[in-house]
Amino acid sequence: MNLNRASAARDLLAFYVEAGVDTAVGETANDLLSNALSLRGESSRTAPEENRSSAKAGVASPHANEVRRSIPSPPTERQKAAPLAPDAAVMAAREAARGAATLEELRAILDGFEGCALKHTATQLVFADGNPQAPVMFVGEAPGSEEDRQGLPFVGRSGKLLDRMLAAIGLDRSSVYIANIVPWRPPGNRTPTPQEAAICLPFVRRQIELCDPDILVCLGGPSAQTLLGFKEGIMKSRGRWLTFHTGRRDIRAMATFHPAYLLRTPLAKRLAWRDFLAIKKALAEVSGA
Ligand code: URA
Repeated sequence: MNLNRASAARDLLAFYVEAGVDTAVGETANDLLSNALSLRGESSRTAPEENRSSAKAGVASPHANEVRRSIPSPPTERQKAAPLAPDAAVMAAREAARGAATLEELRAILDGFEGCALKHTATQLVFADGNPQAPVMFVGEAPGSEEDRQGLPFVGRSGKLLDRMLAAIGLDRSSVYIANIVPWRPPGNRTPTPQEAAICLPFVRRQIELCDPDILVCLGGPSAQTLLGFKEGIMKSRGRWLTFHTGRRDIRAMATFHPAYLLRTPLAKRLAWRDFLAIKKALAEVSGA
């Protein structure tokens, strides 16, 4: 690689990192320009003079972007199944989730579910961690990059903080159950769209029903809004007990700050501590201690 190309490649990588790209989706590089040229009956080796001379000079053809935009790359094997329309995907999710009689079945059904496009960009399903018999279940938003790599929820930086907060009230992963609203990592760690959350909701609802905790804790605004129906932000909704119907019975539910928010806003830890003390007290009440 000559120096100019090496430095252009470094600049491009820096741009990707800046734009939040941190995962390769395909296993091989896809040269969109060659695909486009071959679809038009031109191979990149017999490109018109204009393409060749501009490539030689190290500048893209003025038409290159147009070609990239107009001719999509061929779908990968995993992308070939036609996506379901959102309403149909929600219906399919309800039907599929209802069919699970155990958490193991639910995991397998979810792993085979094709109705949520996030599955195709994630490395793997992130189903749950902890003890399904635990009296308290925490539900976050969606896996991040470390969770996507390990296949477990809350194992990255915010997970480490969550572990410390749990330890502060005498809990650990053997005494809690942890899941997310959306079990696949959204690209670039973006917030899941309301549509993605709606498609995954029947599964997490069934997970709660099968786990059957005494207490449910939503971590962060998107989880609280999706599961508990709050319209306001987490600042207003946190720390309030309400009743959640699991499908089997009514249990107590509360929203608190997402640990990732606490990492960015350490002052809010004071309020989070109050919420965790309330959770500890509620746990003592349900256990009769
Ligand atoms: N944030 C979440 O909401 N869930 C995880 O599993 C990790 C980070």
